[in-house]
Amino acid sequence: MSENELHVSKIKNGTVIDHICGGYALDVIRILGITGKEPRVMTLAVNVPSKHFGVKDIVKIEDKLLSPQEVNRIALVAPHASINLIRNYTVVEKREVQLPKVIEGIVKCINPSCVSNSGEPVLSKFQVKNNDPLLLKCHYCGVTIEPPDILNQL
Ligand code: CTP
Ligand code: ZN
Repeated sequence: MSENELHVSKIKNGTVIDHICGGYALDVIRILGITGKEPRVMTLAVNVPSKHFGVKDIVKIEDKLLSPQEVNRIALVAPHASINLIRNYTVVEKREVQLPKVIEGIVKCINPSCVSNSGEPVLSKFQVKNNDPLLLKCHYCGVTIEPPDILNQL
């Protein structure tokens, strides 16, 4: 590493969420319900240089494992993220997040007259039309929704 490169400390045990699109780290930690008030060490790097993406964000959370549901939500805001599991300073598992083709029950339709908003027991359901930028199409009413309306709900 040259003296011009960024150095962010390695962690001992926990999760490193790498290759988050620049500017989305704070959304990722909000999705995880982390406020910063927990007694947990966390490192954020925002808009740092990246070989592949120009700039990227990194979130390192000590002593935390992510559930599959948390990984699915992260995929909605960080479609290229990799999730690294760290044990005793070593990467023991590396997974790319993967957005499913269909998203059920996470995001609500923005159309007030959609059947999924009618009070009936109908779970929201969207087809993923595009990953980046994210474009979701409601299975029931066909309305499409984009990042601002999706981020608001996560
Ligand atoms: N990392 C960490 N603490 C460790 C080990 C790794 O914080 N004890 C971080 C690294 O800084 C990096 C990420 O976890 O952000 C993945 O580590 P590694 O696979 O070693 O890095 P790369 O080869 O650069 O990863 P990739 O191929 O996914 O770009
Ligand atoms: Zn709808």
